[in-house]
Amino acid sequence: MNRDQICVIVLAAGMGTRMKSDLPKVLHRVAGRAMLDLVLDEVKRLKPARCAVVLGPDMDEVAQHATAHAVQPKIAIQKERLGTAHAVRAAEKAIGKFDGTVLILYGDTPLVKAETLKRVVAALKKKSKPALSWLTFAPEDPGAYGQFVLRADGTVERIVEAKDLTPDIDPSGQCWGGVMAGDGKSFWQLLAKVGRNNKQREYYLTELVALAYARGLDSALVEGSVEEAQGVNSRFDLAVVEQEMQHRLRMAALAGGVTMIDPTTVFLSWDTKLGRDIHIEPNVFFGAGVTVADHVTIKANSHIDGADIGPGCIIGPFARLRPGAKLVRDVHVGNFVEVKNAVLETGVKANHLTYLGDARVGSGTNVGAGTITCNYDGYGKYHTEIGANVFIGSDVALVAPVKVGDGAVIGAGSVVTKDVAADALAVTRAEQKEIKGWAKRRRDSQAAKKKKK
Ligand code: UD1
Ligand code: MG
Repeated sequence: MNRDQICVIVLAAGMGTRMKSDLPKVLHRVAGRAMLDLVLDEVKRLKPARCAVVLGPDMDEVAQHATAHAVQPKIAIQKERLGTAHAVRAAEKAIGKFDGTVLILYGDTPLVKAETLKRVVAALKKKSKPALSWLTFAPEDPGAYGQFVLRADGTVERIVEAKDLTPDIDPSGQCWGGVMAGDGKSFWQLLAKVGRNNKQREYYLTELVALAYARGLDSALVEGSVEEAQGVNSRFDLAVVEQEMQHRLRMAALAGGVTMIDPTTVFLSWDTKLGRDIHIEPNVFFGAGVTVADHVTIKANSHIDGADIGPGCIIGPFARLRPGAKLVRDVHVGNFVEVKNAVLETGVKANHLTYLGDARVGSGTNVGAGTITCNYDGYGKYHTEIGANVFIGSDVALVAPVKVGDGAVIGAGSVVTKDVAADALAVTRAEQKEIKGWAKRRRDSQAAKKKKK
């Protein structure tokens, strides 16, 4: 086995009871992606030789989710939740014989970056040949975290868990951030020695520091940010992590050539793809699977989900693009317009109060205000095919399945149930009737009635 190879163990056997949720904690989403997937995304960037996720019993949903990830982790089951060291031991079998570097992290700490994981691993290569390497952070309040205790010469002696802190101990204020790496040769031997002689009667992974120290083995400390160490135990923590993730995504968008009047009101997904010279007005939400090409303007209060927006398009204000919406180029989708599973070819304009679902609209076509594709009859969904350079008047109902040929005109207020030929006019409204002087006669008679009273 190549000693430079890495095996990663992700601990996620926690029940997450404080989330008060039917959904397992690590499947809660941050920027639209399950926390566990975000962690495994970073793990994948390390190209690990092996990877295992430790789960509790009855966590089949998480197991299925995890194995579907591209990093293809093995699943290890920790039958009883007896502490973090116990959890790592549970993974030993799934990992198999391995004397490369072991990297441990948590499934509920989704902000940790691959670069930081690499720094923790790299610290094992220091001249002092440390056996262990730990990610540290310095929060304002060390609160519930494990803190490092240092010797006067700076050597790392042990970690003291918050619950085991007594007045005679002088901790350093540096806390463990939940990521550690061990040299494969000594790691498993030290792990086997971890006991449960502490207040919680748990097998603490953090006891490794003292065990190493007693054997003259060094622990290296790698400083990280408070943000990256932020774990999720409650919905409050989840909101804090979401904020930080949004901050990162917004910064990346700005750096990539996107203008946002108020970035704090724009919500992005983990996979939102934005081109250059895009203008985004306030209060815009991007769900998963959105691609936006160059020179697009997205006006205020638009909700975009699973849509592909081509160059030069103008969206909103108050537009809703749903999955399968494909706007090819220079398309205008205005206020209170909803597009779902529909292709709008180059130059299509649908500027007001319209629903285009399960449809294709040809290039240069103008869709009038209040036009609706009636795609659903209560049982099935049907397609509407509209050609190029069609003019659809206001308040038109297109009852699918139906086709409108190139260059046709549909009169306002029509209910179109039959195909319309190219270049034809289709109108289905009742003919206008006019009664001369009727309005005046009515006005006069009403006025006379009022006078009598
Ligand atoms: C742990 C550390 C603490 C560190 C903190 C950082 C220990 C003893 N303490 O404390 O030093 O500052 O993380 O967030 O390691 N887990 C299992 N099986 C178990 C126990 C835990 O899989 O038996 C998993 C949990 O799902 C979670 C992670 O390990 O993802 C951490 O467990 P948690 O109970 O939150 O540890 P802390 O008390 O926060
Ligand atoms: Mg915790």
